[in-house]
Amino acid sequence: MSIVVKDAQERSDGAHLRALLQACGLSTIGLFSPGSVYVMALRDQSVIGVCGLERDGPAGLLRSLAVDPSARGARLSWRLVDVIVRRARMDAVERLFTFSKDTGDLFTAMGWRDVPLSKALPHIGNTAQVRHYDDVGWYPDERALSIDLAQPRMSPRF
Ligand SMILES: CC(C)(COP(=O)(O)OP(=O)(O)OC[C@H]1O[C@@H](n2cnc3c(N)ncnc32)[C@H](O)[C@@H]1OP(=O)(O)O)[C@@H](O)C(=O)NCCC(=O)NCCS
Repeated sequence: MSIVVKDAQERSDGAHLRALLQACGLSTIGLFSPGSVYVMALRDQSVIGVCGLERDGPAGLLRSLAVDPSARGARLSWRLVDVIVRRARMDAVERLFTFSKDTGDLFTAMGWRDVPLSKALPHIGNTAQVRHYDDVGWYPDERALSIDLAQPRMSPRF
């Protein structure tokens, strides 16, 4: 069954993306903040995957990576991350960050590196997700990871 990855629009796709993120246990706070980009994976016109990019100057925050349980194990998360990394490169993002509680090893397998949370936050302090966690408090076990996009490609193809 073919899966299509395309840009998501808040007006037409926001409700589907929020439903998927909530079903996957992720926050929808600050979704579609100004300047952000979201891509979604569609199978039979149903949203089965999502990933987003928030900008903060030369840095970016990859967020809201989720794949519907029915579509897991087929490297769709790799495809979604690859699309967002390419988009970030095209938008001249120099360094991309993400946060993870229990999927950090997935990102390190993709070529991302751990970075102390305190070192990551100054780069992306203006993103909606960081502002939200600054307000409500960070999970004690939150892991920050980053990938340097100024270097030649480090993210392996899906
Ligand atoms: C995390 C998530 C997006 C992964 O998507 P997926 O479709 O299951 O994973 P993929 O098929 O793309 O990737 C498969 C590979 O990643 C690995 N992987 C999957 N989830 C992983 C995890 N949580 N930690 C470490 N590795 C993981 C698999 O072992 C597999 O590796 P292999 O091919 O060497 O066997 C999905 O499980 C999900 O939506 N989880 C709930 C939301 C979430 O936690 N999102 C991440 C927020 S940072």
